[in-house]
Amino acid sequence: MKKYFVIGNPIEHSLSPLIHNHWIKRNKIDAIYEKKKLKTTELNDFILKLREKKINGINITIPFKQKVIPYLDNLSDEAKKTNSVNTIYVHKNKLFGHNTDVEGFELGMKDTKFNVTNKKVFILGAGGVVPSIIFVLKKMNVSKVMISNRTKDKAKNLKIFHKDLEIVEWGEVPNFDLIINATSLGLNKDDIINLDFSKISENKLFYDVIYNPSETNFLKSAKNLGHQTENGRKMFIYQAAAAFKIWHGLSPEINNEIIKILAE
Ligand code: ATR
Repeated sequence: MKKYFVIGNPIEHSLSPLIHNHWIKRNKIDAIYEKKKLKTTELNDFILKLREKKINGINITIPFKQKVIPYLDNLSDEAKKTNSVNTIYVHKNKLFGHNTDVEGFELGMKDTKFNVTNKKVFILGAGGVVPSIIFVLKKMNVSKVMISNRTKDKAKNLKIFHKDLEIVEWGEVPNFDLIINATSLGLNKDDIINLDFSKISENKLFYDVIYNPSETNFLKSAKNLGHQTENGRKMFIYQAAAAFKIWHGLSPEINNEIIKILAE
C-alpha cells in the first residue's frame, strides 16, 4: 500500500486527508493519506523516508513550505519562483518539489469570473501562501499589488522577489478592486479583521483564502456592503487535485459531492 502525508504544525485542522482519501477510494487505489504534525528538527528524517521508499509523497503546509526546499533534488518552475513547495514526489530516485497552490489559486480565481486584468489588488497577510498568490496575480496581468501585514518586515521581505510590490501600513485601506485575506484571521469563528471598508464602492471582489469556516466575518461584512465574495474552498480542492494527479497519474473528479464533504 502506498503512503502519503500532509506535514505541518499545527496540522489538526487540515482537510487534506479527507479529500485525498475520498479520491483514493473512488479510484480504487491501494493507498492511504494521513496527517502528521512535525517539528522542524524532524523534517530531515521524515523526508528521508521518501528516499527509503517507506512513503510515496508528501504535501507540505505551514510552516514548512520553504523549510523543505534544502532537502530536495529538483524544483519545478512554480516552486522556484515562489520559493515554496507544497507537494513532494519521487521520480527516478530523485525528490521533486512542486507548488500546486499556484494552480489552485489560478483555477479558483478563474472560477469567480471576476476579471482581474488591469485591476488593483490588496493582499492582507504575508504568510506561506502569499508568494503563490502574487505569482498568479502577476501572471493574470493585474495592474498593481499592494500588501499589508501586521509585521511589516515580512511584507517588505516579499519585495526581494517582487520589487514593484506596494507596502501598506497595517490598519490602512487603499483603493482596490480585489482584496484577498491571506492572514489566519478568520480561522476562529469570532475573529475580526479590524479594517474599515465602508468607503470602498460596491461590487469589488472580497476573497478569503480560508475555507473553514466557509464564511468568515470578513466575507460576511463584505457581502453586507454589496460586494462579491469567495472563500478558498475551490483553491484548496484544485491544489489537492493537482497533487493527486502528480502522484497517481489521474485527474480526480471535482463535483458537488466533494464540495459538500468539505462544507460539512
Ligand atoms: P506564517 O506567518 O507562519 O507563514 P501563515 O498562517 O501563513 O503563517 O500566516 C499567518 C498570517 O496571518 C501572517 O501574515 C500573520 O501576520 P504576522 O506576520 O504579523 O504574524 C497574520 N496574522 C495572524 N494573526 C494575526 C492578527 N491577530 N492580526 C493580524 N495579522 C495576523
